[in-house]
Amino acid sequence: MSFQSFEGGLRMRRLRASESIRRMVRENEVRPEHLILPVFLMDGNDSEPVASMPGVTRLSVPALVEKCRKLLALGVCGIAPFPKTPDDKKSPAGEESANPDCLVCRAIRAVKAAVPEMLIFADIALDPYTTHGHDGILNAAGTDVDNDTTLDALAQMALNNARAGADFVAPSDMMDGRIARIRKALDANGFSRVGILAYSAKYASAFYGPFREAVGSRKKDSGNVTGLTKKTYQLSPANRREAVREALLDEAECADMLMVKPALPYLDILRDVRERSLLPLAAYQVSGEYSQIKAAAQLGFLDYKAVRDESLLAIRRAGADIILTYFAEEYARDFRNA
Ligand code: PBG
Repeated sequence: MSFQSFEGGLRMRRLRASESIRRMVRENEVRPEHLILPVFLMDGNDSEPVASMPGVTRLSVPALVEKCRKLLALGVCGIAPFPKTPDDKKSPAGEESANPDCLVCRAIRAVKAAVPEMLIFADIALDPYTTHGHDGILNAAGTDVDNDTTLDALAQMALNNARAGADFVAPSDMMDGRIARIRKALDANGFSRVGILAYSAKYASAFYGPFREAVGSRKKDSGNVTGLTKKTYQLSPANRREAVREALLDEAECADMLMVKPALPYLDILRDVRERSLLPLAAYQVSGEYSQIKAAAQLGFLDYKAVRDESLLAIRRAGADIILTYFAEEYARDFRNA
């Protein structure tokens, strides 16, 4: 390779000189079509603000349907619903997850009836339904999540969500063998067209803090009486190769799309997975990533829109095709108006 020196005429700034040339040589962009909005649901007809996430509201089912119409008009074609389960519907084994009339299933049916083009990515994990807040069913001693018993519950939950009309199910708990197990259950019950978005590389991250407040599982995130922690199933933030192993395993188990979560602190992982798999790749810009930008902007420390847009662009540049982000609606509105 020949080295062209500055004296030899090379000037990098020629390609940055005007808005027109900058646009022309732009390598990446974030379009509304790339985004999925995670939405929080609550029973009843009211909506209420989520204190830990400025600008985010828990929606009733009718409000969700309205939101979906707006999103679609803006070009955002995917939602990922998360329920806030009342305490009296929670139990140690999270049986409410198997209720075909649970809040999420009712919401999916309502959205699919009113706005069928909207893609629904149904989260498959037990944490919204368990009294201890863990993502699975505990063993008798309460010292560990019983992986294989949990798989039965996840398969049942996936079937219920598919029956309600979910386009994709998204197992988010990092149990072993869940993709293969859910694929088999879906196919055996006539849902071979329903896809799987695998939370392949989900880290045991403190950036989920505001989310746990939003779905009401916060008090348990540091472990229950036995000291059981999500670190026994989610990835260690120290590990990189292990994330690629998880992604390749999910691909082998027939996942349709892979995910890395959180996003911005894990761009290296996104790039690693991007380079090792040909599947569409999603990144989840999680609640803590959202709230830190919102909070800093509210204090006047950061320019909200500029930082928001830069964070999304960085995630795309690292290799994500799809971004789950609480900014989806606002970003799409500003994108359309730009
Ligand atoms: C759990 C789940 C979590 C999130 C999505 N699904 C939290 C957790 O593992 O405790 C976090 C999303 C966010 O922080 O925005 N199944």
